[in-house]
Amino acid sequence: MTEADGLLLVNARLATMAAADGGYGIVEDGALALQGGRIAWVGRRADAPAAARALPVHDCGGLWITPGLVDCHTHVVHAGNRSDEWEARLNGASYEDIARAGGGIMATVRATRAASEDALLRQSALRIAALLAEGVTTLEIKSGYGLDLENEAKMLRAARRAGELLPVRVATTFLGAHALAPEYAGRADDYIDEVCARMLPALAREGLVDAVDAFCERIGFTHAQTARVFAAARGLGLPVKLHAEQLSDQGGAALVAEYGGLSADHLEWLSDAGIAAMARAGTVAVLLPGAYYFLRETRMPPIDALRAAGVPLAVATDCNPGTSPMTSLLLALNMACTLWRLTPLEALRGCTVNAARALGRADIGTLAPGQRADLAMWDIARPADLAYAIGANPCRAVVNGGVLRAPRVGLPPA
Ligand code: NIG
Ligand code: FE
Repeated sequence: MTEADGLLLVNARLATMAAADGGYGIVEDGALALQGGRIAWVGRRADAPAAARALPVHDCGGLWITPGLVDCHTHVVHAGNRSDEWEARLNGASYEDIARAGGGIMATVRATRAASEDALLRQSALRIAALLAEGVTTLEIKSGYGLDLENEAKMLRAARRAGELLPVRVATTFLGAHALAPEYAGRADDYIDEVCARMLPALAREGLVDAVDAFCERIGFTHAQTARVFAAARGLGLPVKLHAEQLSDQGGAALVAEYGGLSADHLEWLSDAGIAAMARAGTVAVLLPGAYYFLRETRMPPIDALRAAGVPLAVATDCNPGTSPMTSLLLALNMACTLWRLTPLEALRGCTVNAARALGRADIGTLAPGQRADLAMWDIARPADLAYAIGANPCRAVVNGGVLRAPRVGLPPA
């Protein structure tokens, strides 16, 4: 019998994140029955049904168990880094200056195009392993540094392979409309034609696209161009999300909400109209404090208004070489609380139940019967500790699809 066939975890404290009141869903002296890669039963050990008690027992030694963490916005697959630009910014240049001078996203496009799929996977696996060591069991990975069919496909294939070689669920997002491909300089509408008519259909046919994203911004694409990308996604039955209102208000959040979007991400310049549209559509607000911190932004996303409108809040790393070279989701939680006054409960919901929703997945992000058996075990005193500590990694074990492992994962052979 393997673990995937069944296991009863006992002597644990649970934060199920599944409580009807939106709280932690704490269960003291809890137990979890895992069977066939799913959670079969959750509750107090004393209440375990006979079928659960018949399973092989694993004693968790009093650790806390949460759903496996979900990092719902990353650009973790990319080549090279941009510490040179970071240094330039510290010497006075702005992110937008650098982008306009052909650096920024384009610098990573050049490095990513030059890398083989294997090299891309190797470089990215190091970053992914760091995320997994902190209890991440599901990871969204965007393309967007290839900007032509061949290189966007290479990025998405590398992302899919990461999900096969490492113990993590990968959700892929096509971000062809991230920046204007250099071959299309001065012809942004023609590039959007290429994205909609050729790249997206071909990548979707290959099964490489779980969702479609765009960068709606002065240095990205216009509202109208973004709408064309969304229409193409809708035509293929693919869900959409958006880099919206990061550096200016382009009405992107309302646009993605209009398309029933899964999430609008960044949102520092989000308007009241954008908030209302997101609330109506049930679009998740994905907050990315790493980019705000690293760009030394001062305008905060309108957290109070989002909260008041009942928009679900998620938190992610935005792991990318230009604006958030961060491979710690726990650090993102701390930043969301410290910089933006999220509560530790909101932060934890933001990387579990609400992050799952931002990926359109109802089968992860909570501890409840029928859910995928993706869990993280922590040496903490209470759930708030996950957002409280800076640089500590209290993760002691992880379960992926019912299989128990140590937090540190072996890397695929170089
Ligand atoms: O999420 N905003 C656009 N995309 C990324 C930055 C990408 C880059 O600078 O390489 C972001 O911040
Ligand atoms: Fe991003």
